[in-house]
Amino acid sequence: MALMGPGASMVLFARHVTTAAHILALVVAILMIVWVVHYQGGANINSEDSNTVFNVHPLVMCLGFILMIGEAIMVYKTFPMHRIGQKMIHMMLQFFALVLGIFGIYVAFKYHSMSETQNMTTLHSWLGICTICLFGLQWLFGFLVFWCPKAPEMTREMAAPVHVTAGIGIFFMTICTAETGLMEKSIAPNSLSEGQVINFTGLFILLFGVAVTVTVALRRISV
Ligand code: HEM
Repeated sequence: MALMGPGASMVLFARHVTTAAHILALVVAILMIVWVVHYQGGANINSEDSNTVFNVHPLVMCLGFILMIGEAIMVYKTFPMHRIGQKMIHMMLQFFALVLGIFGIYVAFKYHSMSETQNMTTLHSWLGICTICLFGLQWLFGFLVFWCPKAPEMTREMAAPVHVTAGIGIFFMTICTAETGLMEKSIAPNSLSEGQVINFTGLFILLFGVAVTVTVALRRISV
């Protein structure tokens, strides 16, 4: 049965925002790959060149962490399937994001040790460590309460809004971290066009974050 009235337009608007979020994710992924491959000469964890090793960091943090978290948050809108299936995909995607996030940070440390620069000196690195720790705790909390051993229904109902709010907060921390990391690279780009690619990447990451948040907010009032 077709929906009508203000509720229907809200559902339609929510769908458009979610579509916009997916498109933004694709644009961010393309820009990041163009930056790393075309402007930075590629990424390789086993390279002798510290810069080529470093390039794995933004690539993985962007595609494997930020975009993956955003998509995991929107699973309930993206996959029209049984709730248990949606929860399973949500939990698994967040788990992969956590593993890739830890790997991405390991790469940043490896780069610092190869280039003999001190660790944890920048605002970016401080934000990054806080974010990954909070993300890990959030995942563990979600897993224990909603999956295994799984809290009683009343506790789960009370925990759900906390889980959603904290999740969005931590997601925005990942975006702030990426923005500060991109800023470090946009201060002295190798060319004007490289600077523009970096700036557009940062801009679209932010818009992606906004679209994901609006998707979550609209889901809660339109479903
Ligand atoms: C587009 C995404 C990103 C870019 C362009 C980027 C860029 C950088 C740069 C240039 C460095 C080396 C300089 C420094 O220590 O600040 C770095 C290190 C670091 N990044 Fe990122 N980053 C990105 C995403 C992230 C994210 C999402 C996190 C964590 C959630 C993160 C965590 C870290 C940490 C912890 C270090 C410090 C490692 C050390 O001190 O040895 N980065 N990143």
